Amino acid sequence: MDPSEETLLITHFVCHIVKNYLAHILNTKVPLILGIWGGKGQGKSFQTELIFQTMGIEPVIMSAGELESERAGEPGKLIRERYRTASQVVQNQGKMSCLMINDIDAGLGRFGNTQMTVNNQIVVGTLMNLSDNPTRVSVGQDWRDSDITNRIPIIVTGNDFSTIYAPLIRDGRMDKFYWQPNLEDILNIVHRMYEKDGISRDEVERVVKTFPNQALDFYGALRSRTYDRSILKWIDDIGGVENFGSKLLKRRKDQSLPVFIPPEQTVDALLEAGYSLIKEQQLIMENKLSKEYMKNIDD
Ligand SMILES: Nc1ncnc2c1ncn2[C@@H]1O[C@H](COP(=O)(O)OP(=O)(O)O)[C@@H](O)[C@H]1O
Ligand SMILES: [Mg+2]
Repeated sequence: MDPSEETLLITHFVCHIVKNYLAHILNTKVPLILGIWGGKGQGKSFQTELIFQTMGIEPVIMSAGELESERAGEPGKLIRERYRTASQVVQNQGKMSCLMINDIDAGLGRFGNTQMTVNNQIVVGTLMNLSDNPTRVSVGQDWRDSDITNRIPIIVTGNDFSTIYAPLIRDGRMDKFYWQPNLEDILNIVHRMYEKDGISRDEVERVVKTFPNQALDFYGALRSRTYDRSILKWIDDIGGVENFGSKLLKRRKDQSLPVFIPPEQTVDALLEAGYSLIKEQQLIMENKLSKEYMKNIDD
């Protein structure tokens, strides 16, 4: 059996945090940043949050959207501010903290957007600077005594943009982990997603093998979809959408809402949801491809 990628990720992660909190007594160079790379919807954020909970870490989380500010220079300041917030968590709450930047490269590759390129250079520069001076972080113009902070490990997630972050990786400022769950991991994780529904491990295997090469969020979506169906049916049962508002809000005190019975998850229902999702994926792909094609004609 393949070693579980999930175990590797956890080991890597725990080691990164512990090394950073012990950096001052370790006689080795400790990278401040851990980059977790991998495809969208593969569970990077989810696994990361699980590990935070397990280790009792109170993370300060920021997302790429916040870095896409219109005003150049802003993303660097934002990162430094959050870094200091995390330091205050350690100082004031006596808890381990960590700065987590989700989907750091989300805005990249958006063609012809100079602002994004500038912002990205600022982000890389800021991370480089933090790595070099992890305990002296100024947000304003001048240095103050209060600019002395705790060393805070940084975790970033994103797709593979190692070329852009090469300078950080090369000089040992950023450690990297490529997260790609193998079949065993996927079966374990999906089994956990469906556990409460009483779907067995063998049944999970049947679903996953029917729809191979899908990201984890696909298998989560199957479950939501069977839910959506039951909700639509329930709305129908209580008299349709037209009456839903009045049924929900204007009902008399003694009237109770019609009972909603959660759907019983069956493999057949999950498979059916899967086929309809695949059909949608194909529609979206065709749509994208035709747009791409039209764009080239325009040029
Ligand atoms: N271990 C897990 N248990 C249950 N659900 C999970 C697990 N890992 C991922 N998921 C689900 O898969 C979906 C995608 O995960 P996410 O962490 O957002 O991916 P990424 O950050 O790689 O884009 C989410 O809806 C999440 O709830
Ligand atoms: Mg994510």
